[in-house]
Amino acid sequence: MFEPVIEARDAIDVKLVHALTPAAAATFLADRLSARALAQISGFTGKSGQVLVLPGESGVESVLFGIGDGPADPMACRALAAKLPPGDYAFAPGFGDFDSALAFALGSYRFDRYRSRLEEETRPRLLAPAGMDLARLNAVAQACVLARDMINTPANDLGPLQIETIAREIGQAYGAKVSCVVGEALLDANYPAVHAVGRAAHPTRSPRMIELEWGDASHPTLALVGKGVVFDTGGLDIKSSAGMRLMKKDMGGAAHALALGRMVMALNIPVHLVVLVPAVENAISGDAMRPGDVLSSRKGLTIEVGNTDAEGRLILADALTRAAEFDPVLTLDLATLTGAARMAVGPQIVPFWTADDGLAAEIAAAGITQFDPLWRLPLWAGYEGALDSDIADLKNDPDAWAQAGSVTAALFLQRFAPASGSWAHFDIFGWNPKAGPGRPSGAEAQAIRALLAVIERRFS
Ligand code: BES
Ligand code: MN
Ligand code: ZN
Repeated sequence: MFEPVIEARDAIDVKLVHALTPAAAATFLADRLSARALAQISGFTGKSGQVLVLPGESGVESVLFGIGDGPADPMACRALAAKLPPGDYAFAPGFGDFDSALAFALGSYRFDRYRSRLEEETRPRLLAPAGMDLARLNAVAQACVLARDMINTPANDLGPLQIETIAREIGQAYGAKVSCVVGEALLDANYPAVHAVGRAAHPTRSPRMIELEWGDASHPTLALVGKGVVFDTGGLDIKSSAGMRLMKKDMGGAAHALALGRMVMALNIPVHLVVLVPAVENAISGDAMRPGDVLSSRKGLTIEVGNTDAEGRLILADALTRAAEFDPVLTLDLATLTGAARMAVGPQIVPFWTADDGLAAEIAAAGITQFDPLWRLPLWAGYEGALDSDIADLKNDPDAWAQAGSVTAALFLQRFAPASGSWAHFDIFGWNPKAGPGRPSGAEAQAIRALLAVIERRFS
Protein backbone atom coordinates (compact mmCIF):
# COMPACT_ATOMS: atom_id res chain seq x y z
CA MET A 1 0.00 0.00 0.00
CA PHE A 2 1.22 3.50 -0.84
CA GLU A 3 2.00 5.41 2.35
CA PRO A 4 2.32 9.09 1.53
CA VAL A 5 3.43 10.18 5.01
CA ILE A 6 6.58 8.53 6.31
CA GLU A 7 8.94 8.29 9.24
CA ALA A 8 12.11 10.44 8.96
CA ARG A 9 14.34 7.35 8.93
CA ASP A 10 12.64 6.06 5.75
CA ALA A 11 13.24 9.26 3.81
CA ILE A 12 15.83 9.77 1.11
CA ASP A 13 17.23 13.07 -0.15
CA VAL A 14 14.66 15.24 1.58
CA LYS A 15 13.66 18.60 0.08
CA LEU A 16 12.27 21.38 2.22
CA VAL A 17 8.79 22.84 1.75
CA HIS A 18 8.54 26.43 2.97
CA ALA A 19 4.99 27.30 3.95
CA LEU A 20 4.55 31.03 3.33
CA THR A 21 1.91 33.69 3.76
CA PRO A 22 1.99 36.36 1.02
CA ALA A 23 4.01 38.66 3.31
CA ALA A 24 6.43 35.87 4.21
CA ALA A 25 6.74 34.99 0.52
CA ALA A 26 7.74 38.57 -0.32
CA THR A 27 10.39 38.53 2.41
CA PHE A 28 11.62 35.10 1.40
CA LEU A 29 11.99 36.14 -2.23
CA ALA A 30 13.47 39.59 -1.55
CA ASP A 31 17.10 38.54 -1.81
CA ARG A 32 16.62 35.50 -4.07
CA LEU A 33 16.79 36.84 -7.57
CA SER A 34 16.10 33.82 -9.74
CA ALA A 35 13.44 32.44 -7.38
CA ARG A 36 11.75 35.84 -7.46
CA ALA A 37 11.71 35.83 -11.24
CA LEU A 38 10.26 32.34 -11.25
CA ALA A 39 7.58 33.38 -8.79
CA GLN A 40 6.70 36.35 -10.97
CA ILE A 41 6.45 34.28 -14.13
CA SER A 42 4.31 31.60 -12.51
CA GLY A 43 2.18 33.99 -10.48
CA PHE A 44 3.21 32.63 -7.09
CA THR A 45 2.26 35.13 -4.41
CA GLY A 46 1.66 32.91 -1.38
CA LYS A 47 -2.06 32.43 -1.96
CA SER A 48 -3.46 29.39 -0.23
CA GLY A 49 -2.70 26.20 -2.17
CA GLN A 50 -0.12 27.70 -4.54
CA VAL A 51 3.02 25.64 -5.05
CA LEU A 52 6.30 26.84 -6.57
CA VAL A 53 9.04 24.30 -7.17
CA LEU A 54 12.50 25.89 -7.07
CA PRO A 55 14.93 23.96 -9.27
CA GLY A 56 18.44 23.08 -8.13
CA GLU A 57 21.40 21.60 -9.93
CA SER A 58 19.87 18.14 -9.83
CA GLY A 59 16.11 18.40 -9.71
CA VAL A 60 14.17 20.07 -6.94
CA GLU A 61 16.08 22.45 -4.66
CA SER A 62 13.16 23.36 -2.42
CA VAL A 63 9.47 24.19 -2.62
CA LEU A 64 7.41 27.23 -1.73
CA PHE A 65 3.87 26.52 -0.57
CA GLY A 66 1.36 29.33 -0.24
CA ILE A 67 -0.81 29.29 2.86
CA GLY A 68 -2.62 32.59 2.30
CA ASP A 69 -3.61 35.13 4.94
CA GLY A 70 -6.93 33.76 6.09
CA PRO A 71 -7.42 31.49 9.05
CA ALA A 72 -5.13 28.50 8.60
CA ASP A 73 -6.81 25.76 6.57
CA PRO A 74 -4.66 22.65 6.77
CA MET A 75 -6.79 21.05 4.05
CA ALA A 76 -4.95 23.30 1.59
CA CYS A 77 -2.17 20.72 1.96
CA ARG A 78 -4.23 18.39 -0.22
CA ALA A 79 -3.10 20.55 -3.15
CA LEU A 80 0.52 20.16 -2.12
CA ALA A 81 0.38 16.39 -2.57
CA ALA A 82 -1.12 16.82 -6.01
CA LYS A 83 1.39 19.41 -7.25
CA LEU A 84 4.75 18.15 -5.97
CA PRO A 85 7.07 16.17 -8.22
CA PRO A 86 7.95 12.67 -6.96
CA GLY A 87 10.42 12.64 -4.09
CA ASP A 88 10.62 13.02 -0.32
CA TYR A 89 9.72 16.30 1.35
CA ALA A 90 9.63 17.85 4.80
CA PHE A 91 8.02 21.04 6.03
CA ALA A 92 10.58 23.64 7.07
CA PRO A 93 10.55 24.16 10.85
CA GLY A 94 7.59 26.11 12.20
CA PHE A 95 4.92 24.59 9.98
CA GLY A 96 3.13 21.28 9.82
CA ASP A 97 1.02 19.25 12.19
CA PHE A 98 -1.23 16.21 12.17
CA ASP A 99 -3.97 17.93 10.16
CA SER A 100 -1.69 19.22 7.41
CA ALA A 101 -0.02 15.80 7.08
CA LEU A 102 -3.42 14.12 6.97
CA ALA A 103 -4.52 16.55 4.27
CA PHE A 104 -1.37 15.66 2.34
CA ALA A 105 -2.31 11.98 2.62
CA LEU A 106 -5.92 12.63 1.53
CA GLY A 107 -4.65 14.70 -1.40
CA SER A 108 -2.38 11.84 -2.51
CA TYR A 109 -5.33 9.57 -3.28
CA ARG A 110 -5.68 8.17 -6.78
CA PHE A 111 -8.06 5.54 -8.08
CA ASP A 112 -5.99 3.58 -10.59
CA ARG A 113 -7.53 0.11 -10.40
CA TYR A 114 -8.56 0.24 -14.05
CA ARG A 115 -5.51 1.96 -15.52
CA SER A 116 -3.79 -0.69 -17.62
CA ARG A 117 -0.60 1.33 -18.01
CA LEU A 118 0.23 2.29 -14.46
CA GLU A 119 2.32 5.39 -14.07
CA GLU A 120 5.55 5.01 -12.15
CA GLU A 121 4.87 4.27 -8.51
CA THR A 122 7.10 7.19 -7.58
CA ARG A 123 5.00 9.81 -5.90
CA PRO A 124 5.76 12.58 -3.44
CA ARG A 125 6.04 11.55 0.20
CA LEU A 126 5.98 13.77 3.24
CA LEU A 127 8.02 13.33 6.40
CA ALA A 128 5.72 13.16 9.39
CA PRO A 129 6.01 16.51 11.22
CA ALA A 130 7.81 16.17 14.56
CA GLY A 131 5.78 14.70 17.39
CA MET A 132 2.92 13.61 15.14
CA ASP A 133 1.12 10.30 15.68
CA LEU A 134 1.80 8.48 12.39
CA ALA A 135 -0.09 5.33 13.35
CA ARG A 136 -3.18 7.43 13.90
CA LEU A 137 -2.71 9.25 10.62
CA ASN A 138 -2.47 5.93 8.78
CA ALA A 139 -5.59 4.61 10.51
CA VAL A 140 -7.57 7.65 9.37
CA ALA A 141 -6.06 7.96 5.89
CA GLN A 142 -6.40 4.26 5.08
CA ALA A 143 -10.03 4.23 6.17
CA CYS A 144 -10.70 7.15 3.84
CA VAL A 145 -8.95 5.26 1.02
CA LEU A 146 -11.16 2.26 1.73
CA ALA A 147 -14.33 4.35 1.50
CA ARG A 148 -13.19 6.08 -1.68
CA ASP A 149 -12.02 2.87 -3.39
CA MET A 150 -15.34 1.16 -2.62
CA ILE A 151 -17.36 4.09 -3.97
CA ASN A 152 -15.22 4.47 -7.09
CA THR A 153 -15.40 0.77 -7.91
CA PRO A 154 -18.20 0.21 -10.41
CA ALA A 155 -21.14 -2.04 -9.62
CA ASN A 156 -19.93 -4.83 -11.92
CA ASP A 157 -16.99 -5.34 -9.56
CA LEU A 158 -18.71 -4.35 -6.33
CA GLY A 159 -21.90 -6.26 -5.66
CA PRO A 160 -23.44 -7.22 -2.31
CA LEU A 161 -21.07 -10.19 -2.08
CA GLN A 162 -18.00 -7.97 -2.50
CA ILE A 163 -19.21 -5.69 0.29
CA GLU A 164 -19.58 -8.77 2.48
CA THR A 165 -16.04 -9.85 1.54
CA ILE A 166 -14.65 -6.43 2.46
CA ALA A 167 -16.49 -6.52 5.80
CA ARG A 168 -15.04 -9.97 6.47
CA GLU A 169 -11.51 -8.78 5.61
CA ILE A 170 -11.82 -5.82 7.95
CA GLY A 171 -13.27 -8.09 10.63
CA GLN A 172 -10.38 -10.51 10.26
CA ALA A 173 -7.80 -7.73 10.53
CA TYR A 174 -9.18 -6.46 13.83
CA GLY A 175 -10.62 -9.59 15.40
CA ALA A 176 -14.26 -8.71 14.84
CA LYS A 177 -17.07 -11.22 14.36
CA VAL A 178 -18.77 -10.92 10.96
CA SER A 179 -22.01 -12.65 10.06
CA CYS A 180 -24.31 -12.36 7.11
CA VAL A 181 -27.87 -13.31 6.21
CA VAL A 182 -28.28 -13.83 2.45
CA GLY A 183 -31.13 -14.13 -0.03
CA GLU A 184 -34.26 -16.09 0.97
CA ALA A 185 -32.82 -16.51 4.48
CA LEU A 186 -33.59 -12.81 4.98
CA LEU A 187 -37.27 -13.75 5.22
CA ASP A 188 -36.70 -16.34 7.97
CA ALA A 189 -34.39 -13.95 9.81
CA ASN A 190 -37.05 -11.23 9.60
CA TYR A 191 -35.47 -8.69 7.27
CA PRO A 192 -38.47 -8.38 4.94
CA ALA A 193 -37.69 -4.91 3.61
CA VAL A 194 -34.07 -5.76 2.78
CA HIS A 195 -35.34 -8.81 0.93
CA ALA A 196 -38.02 -6.89 -0.95
CA VAL A 197 -35.61 -4.25 -2.21
CA GLY A 198 -32.87 -6.68 -3.23
CA ARG A 199 -34.71 -9.74 -4.48
CA ALA A 200 -34.90 -8.64 -8.12
CA ALA A 201 -31.13 -8.82 -8.52
CA HIS A 202 -29.34 -11.71 -10.22
CA PRO A 203 -28.78 -14.66 -7.83
CA THR A 204 -25.04 -13.95 -7.77
CA ARG A 205 -25.91 -10.55 -6.36
CA SER A 206 -28.45 -11.54 -3.73
CA PRO A 207 -29.45 -9.09 -1.03
CA ARG A 208 -27.84 -9.52 2.36
CA MET A 209 -27.65 -8.14 5.84
CA ILE A 210 -24.04 -7.85 6.98
CA GLU A 211 -23.22 -7.53 10.65
CA LEU A 212 -19.82 -6.82 12.18
CA GLU A 213 -19.38 -6.92 15.94
CA TRP A 214 -16.22 -5.96 17.79
CA GLY A 215 -14.97 -5.11 21.25
CA ASP A 216 -15.84 -5.88 24.82
CA ALA A 217 -19.59 -6.41 25.12
CA SER A 218 -19.48 -4.70 28.53
CA HIS A 219 -18.46 -1.44 26.85
CA PRO A 220 -21.16 0.97 25.67
CA THR A 221 -22.57 -0.06 22.30
CA LEU A 222 -21.92 2.12 19.27
CA ALA A 223 -24.02 1.16 16.24
CA LEU A 224 -22.99 2.27 12.74
CA VAL A 225 -25.46 1.69 9.93
CA GLY A 226 -24.70 2.22 6.23
CA LYS A 227 -26.89 2.15 3.11
CA GLY A 228 -25.36 -0.44 0.78
CA VAL A 229 -27.24 -0.12 -2.51
CA VAL A 230 -24.57 -1.31 -4.93
CA PHE A 231 -26.52 0.12 -7.84
CA ASP A 232 -29.76 2.08 -7.83
CA THR A 233 -31.67 1.80 -11.10
CA GLY A 234 -34.68 3.23 -9.29
CA GLY A 235 -36.41 -0.14 -9.68
CA LEU A 236 -39.66 -0.17 -11.67
CA ASP A 237 -39.84 3.59 -11.04
CA ILE A 238 -36.74 3.65 -13.20
CA LYS A 239 -34.37 6.59 -13.08
CA SER A 240 -33.51 8.71 -16.12
CA SER A 241 -30.10 8.01 -17.66
CA ALA A 242 -28.68 11.18 -16.13
CA GLY A 243 -30.16 10.24 -12.76
CA MET A 244 -28.76 6.73 -12.93
CA ARG A 245 -25.28 7.61 -14.15
CA LEU A 246 -23.60 7.92 -10.74
CA MET A 247 -25.63 5.29 -8.92
CA LYS A 248 -22.66 2.97 -8.43
CA LYS A 249 -22.00 5.26 -5.47
CA ASP A 250 -25.29 4.41 -3.78
CA MET A 251 -23.38 2.12 -1.41
CA GLY A 252 -21.48 5.16 -0.14
CA GLY A 253 -23.13 4.92 3.26
CA ALA A 254 -21.96 1.32 3.65
CA ALA A 255 -18.45 2.33 2.60
CA HIS A 256 -18.46 5.16 5.14
CA ALA A 257 -19.86 3.01 7.97
CA LEU A 258 -17.21 0.34 7.34
CA ALA A 259 -14.47 2.96 7.12
CA LEU A 260 -15.56 4.62 10.36
CA GLY A 261 -15.81 1.22 12.04
CA ARG A 262 -12.31 0.40 10.82
CA MET A 263 -10.97 3.60 12.41
CA VAL A 264 -12.70 2.80 15.70
CA MET A 265 -11.09 -0.66 15.71
CA ALA A 266 -7.67 0.49 14.53
CA LEU A 267 -7.56 3.10 17.29
CA ASN A 268 -8.89 0.59 19.78
CA ILE A 269 -11.60 2.90 21.11
CA PRO A 270 -13.25 1.27 24.14
CA VAL A 271 -16.70 0.62 22.70
CA HIS A 272 -18.75 -2.38 21.78
CA LEU A 273 -18.98 -1.72 18.06
CA VAL A 274 -21.73 -2.99 15.79
CA VAL A 275 -21.61 -2.17 12.07
CA LEU A 276 -24.78 -3.02 10.15
CA VAL A 277 -24.82 -2.96 6.37
CA PRO A 278 -27.85 -3.95 4.33
CA ALA A 279 -26.33 -4.63 0.90
CA VAL A 280 -28.66 -4.87 -2.10
CA GLU A 281 -28.97 -4.03 -5.76
CA ASN A 282 -32.11 -2.05 -6.61
CA ALA A 283 -32.66 -3.92 -9.86
CA ILE A 284 -35.50 -4.57 -12.29
CA SER A 285 -36.90 -8.02 -13.02
CA GLY A 286 -40.20 -9.87 -12.93
CA ASP A 287 -39.57 -10.30 -9.22
CA ALA A 288 -39.04 -6.61 -8.49
CA MET A 289 -41.14 -4.88 -5.85
CA ARG A 290 -43.87 -2.77 -7.42
CA PRO A 291 -45.24 0.70 -6.75
CA GLY A 292 -48.21 0.13 -4.48
CA ASP A 293 -46.83 -3.00 -2.84
CA VAL A 294 -47.11 -3.08 0.92
CA LEU A 295 -44.05 -4.44 2.71
CA SER A 296 -43.69 -5.61 6.21
CA SER A 297 -40.65 -4.51 8.15
CA ARG A 298 -38.54 -5.97 10.94
CA LYS A 299 -40.18 -3.56 13.36
CA GLY A 300 -43.63 -4.76 12.35
CA LEU A 301 -44.68 -1.48 10.77
CA THR A 302 -46.16 -1.92 7.31
CA ILE A 303 -44.80 0.29 4.54
CA GLU A 304 -46.56 1.17 1.31
CA VAL A 305 -44.07 1.47 -1.53
CA GLY A 306 -45.21 4.64 -3.21
CA ASN A 307 -41.97 4.79 -5.18
CA THR A 308 -39.50 1.96 -5.74
CA ASP A 309 -36.73 4.55 -6.05
CA ALA A 310 -37.06 5.44 -2.35
CA GLU A 311 -35.37 2.12 -1.56
CA GLY A 312 -32.65 3.31 0.80
CA ARG A 313 -35.04 4.15 3.65
CA LEU A 314 -36.64 0.70 3.27
CA ILE A 315 -33.44 -1.25 3.87
CA LEU A 316 -32.33 1.20 6.56
CA ALA A 317 -35.64 0.66 8.36
CA ASP A 318 -34.78 -3.00 8.95
CA ALA A 319 -31.13 -2.21 9.75
CA LEU A 320 -32.09 0.45 12.33
CA THR A 321 -34.53 -1.98 13.93
CA ARG A 322 -31.70 -4.49 14.14
CA ALA A 323 -29.44 -1.82 15.70
CA ALA A 324 -32.05 -1.20 18.38
CA GLU A 325 -31.75 -4.83 19.48
CA PHE A 326 -28.22 -4.09 20.76
CA ASP A 327 -29.44 -1.26 23.04
CA PRO A 328 -26.88 1.19 21.62
CA VAL A 329 -25.99 4.38 23.44
CA LEU A 330 -25.24 5.95 20.08
CA THR A 331 -26.49 5.03 16.61
CA LEU A 332 -25.13 6.75 13.52
CA ASP A 333 -26.49 5.99 10.07
CA LEU A 334 -24.87 7.15 6.85
CA ALA A 335 -26.63 7.03 3.50
CA THR A 336 -26.73 8.50 0.01
CA LEU A 337 -30.41 8.84 0.73
CA THR A 338 -31.89 11.74 -1.21
CA GLY A 339 -31.25 14.02 -4.14
CA ALA A 340 -33.02 16.65 -2.04
CA ALA A 341 -30.07 16.79 0.37
CA ARG A 342 -27.96 18.09 -2.53
CA MET A 343 -30.51 20.71 -3.41
CA ALA A 344 -30.34 21.84 0.22
CA VAL A 345 -26.60 22.08 0.82
CA GLY A 346 -24.74 20.92 -2.31
CA PRO A 347 -22.11 18.20 -2.59
CA GLN A 348 -19.53 19.51 -0.11
CA ILE A 349 -21.62 19.69 3.05
CA VAL A 350 -23.19 16.74 4.82
CA PRO A 351 -26.59 17.52 6.32
CA PHE A 352 -27.44 15.62 9.48
CA TRP A 353 -30.44 15.10 11.71
CA THR A 354 -30.72 14.21 15.36
CA ALA A 355 -33.21 14.90 18.14
CA ASP A 356 -30.34 15.23 20.63
CA ASP A 357 -29.29 18.90 20.80
CA GLY A 358 -26.12 18.09 22.73
CA LEU A 359 -25.03 15.54 20.16
CA ALA A 360 -25.88 17.96 17.36
CA ALA A 361 -23.63 20.59 18.91
CA GLU A 362 -20.79 18.07 19.29
CA ILE A 363 -21.12 16.97 15.66
CA ALA A 364 -21.22 20.53 14.35
CA ALA A 365 -18.18 21.48 16.44
CA ALA A 366 -16.25 18.41 15.28
CA GLY A 367 -17.06 19.30 11.68
CA ILE A 368 -15.25 22.58 12.22
CA THR A 369 -12.24 21.28 14.16
CA GLN A 370 -11.75 18.36 11.74
CA PHE A 371 -12.32 20.44 8.58
CA ASP A 372 -15.08 18.00 7.63
CA PRO A 373 -18.15 20.14 6.93
CA LEU A 374 -21.53 19.17 8.39
CA TRP A 375 -24.76 21.10 8.87
CA ARG A 376 -27.74 20.25 11.04
CA LEU A 377 -31.21 20.20 9.49
CA PRO A 378 -34.45 19.81 11.45
CA LEU A 379 -36.50 16.72 12.22
CA TRP A 380 -39.52 18.92 11.68
CA ALA A 381 -42.53 17.18 13.23
CA GLY A 382 -44.93 19.26 11.14
CA TYR A 383 -44.00 17.20 8.08
CA GLU A 384 -44.64 13.81 9.66
CA GLY A 385 -48.11 13.66 8.13
CA ALA A 386 -46.48 13.56 4.69
CA LEU A 387 -45.57 9.93 5.44
CA ASP A 388 -49.15 8.83 6.09
CA SER A 389 -50.37 6.04 3.85
CA ASP A 390 -54.00 5.40 2.97
CA ILE A 391 -53.65 1.66 3.59
CA ALA A 392 -50.44 1.00 5.57
CA ASP A 393 -48.67 2.36 8.66
CA LEU A 394 -46.55 4.67 6.52
CA LYS A 395 -45.34 5.13 2.96
CA ASN A 396 -41.89 5.64 1.51
CA ASP A 397 -42.71 8.51 -0.88
CA PRO A 398 -43.66 11.57 1.16
CA ASP A 399 -46.37 13.92 -0.07
CA ALA A 400 -45.15 16.75 -2.26
CA TRP A 401 -46.64 19.42 0.02
CA ALA A 402 -43.89 18.84 2.57
CA GLN A 403 -41.31 19.62 -0.15
CA ALA A 404 -38.19 19.08 2.00
CA GLY A 405 -37.34 15.60 0.73
CA SER A 406 -34.22 15.08 2.83
CA VAL A 407 -36.13 16.09 5.97
CA THR A 408 -39.05 13.75 5.30
CA ALA A 409 -36.58 10.95 4.56
CA ALA A 410 -34.97 11.58 7.97
CA LEU A 411 -38.44 11.56 9.58
CA PHE A 412 -39.09 8.18 7.94
CA LEU A 413 -35.88 6.77 9.44
CA GLN A 414 -36.71 8.26 12.83
CA ARG A 415 -39.72 5.95 13.01
CA PHE A 416 -37.28 3.02 13.08
CA ALA A 417 -34.37 4.50 15.05
CA PRO A 418 -33.46 2.87 18.37
CA ALA A 419 -35.32 4.18 21.41
CA SER A 420 -32.19 3.66 23.50
CA GLY A 421 -29.46 6.31 23.44
CA SER A 422 -29.09 8.92 20.71
CA TRP A 423 -29.43 8.60 16.97
CA ALA A 424 -28.09 10.75 14.16
CA HIS A 425 -28.60 10.37 10.43
CA PHE A 426 -26.18 11.65 7.75
CA ASP A 427 -27.30 12.14 4.14
CA ILE A 428 -23.94 12.01 2.39
CA PHE A 429 -23.11 12.61 -1.26
CA GLY A 430 -19.75 10.80 -1.14
CA TRP A 431 -18.68 12.32 -4.40
CA ASN A 432 -16.70 15.25 -5.69
CA PRO A 433 -18.28 16.40 -8.97
CA LYS A 434 -15.54 18.92 -9.79
CA ALA A 435 -11.84 18.14 -9.73
CA GLY A 436 -9.36 20.41 -7.98
CA PRO A 437 -5.74 19.93 -6.87
CA GLY A 438 -5.71 17.12 -4.30
CA ARG A 439 -9.42 16.65 -4.85
CA PRO A 440 -9.85 14.38 -7.84
CA SER A 441 -13.38 14.10 -9.17
CA GLY A 442 -15.02 10.94 -7.94
CA ALA A 443 -15.44 9.39 -4.53
CA GLU A 444 -14.91 11.53 -1.45
CA ALA A 445 -14.93 10.49 2.21
CA GLN A 446 -17.20 12.78 4.19
CA ALA A 447 -18.20 13.23 7.84
CA ILE A 448 -16.26 10.25 9.18
CA ARG A 449 -13.25 12.23 10.42
CA ALA A 450 -15.61 14.49 12.35
CA LEU A 451 -17.55 11.49 13.63
CA LEU A 452 -14.37 9.83 14.79
CA ALA A 453 -13.66 12.93 16.89
CA VAL A 454 -17.18 12.79 18.35
CA ILE A 455 -16.79 9.10 19.17
CA GLU A 456 -13.39 9.56 20.77
CA ARG A 457 -14.65 12.44 22.88
CA ARG A 458 -17.63 10.46 24.09
CA PHE A 459 -16.00 7.09 24.73
CA SER A 460 -12.26 7.41 25.27
N1 BES B 1 -29.92 7.02 -4.12
C1 BES B 1 -30.99 7.93 -4.34
C2 BES B 1 -30.66 9.33 -3.83
C3 BES B 1 -29.58 10.08 -4.53
C4 BES B 1 -29.76 10.52 -5.82
C5 BES B 1 -28.41 10.36 -3.86
C6 BES B 1 -28.75 11.24 -6.44
C7 BES B 1 -27.42 11.08 -4.48
C8 BES B 1 -27.60 11.51 -5.79
C9 BES B 1 -32.23 7.47 -3.60
O1 BES B 1 -32.40 6.09 -3.54
C10 BES B 1 -33.40 8.03 -4.33
O2 BES B 1 -33.58 7.67 -5.45
N2 BES B 1 -34.15 8.91 -3.66
C11 BES B 1 -35.29 9.54 -4.24
C12 BES B 1 -36.42 9.46 -3.25
C13 BES B 1 -37.77 9.83 -3.82
C14 BES B 1 -38.21 8.85 -4.87
C15 BES B 1 -38.78 9.89 -2.68
C16 BES B 1 -34.93 10.98 -4.54
O3 BES B 1 -34.16 11.59 -3.78
O4 BES B 1 -35.36 11.48 -5.56
MN1 MN C 1 -33.38 5.32 -5.24
ZN1 ZN D 1 -30.69 4.96 -3.61
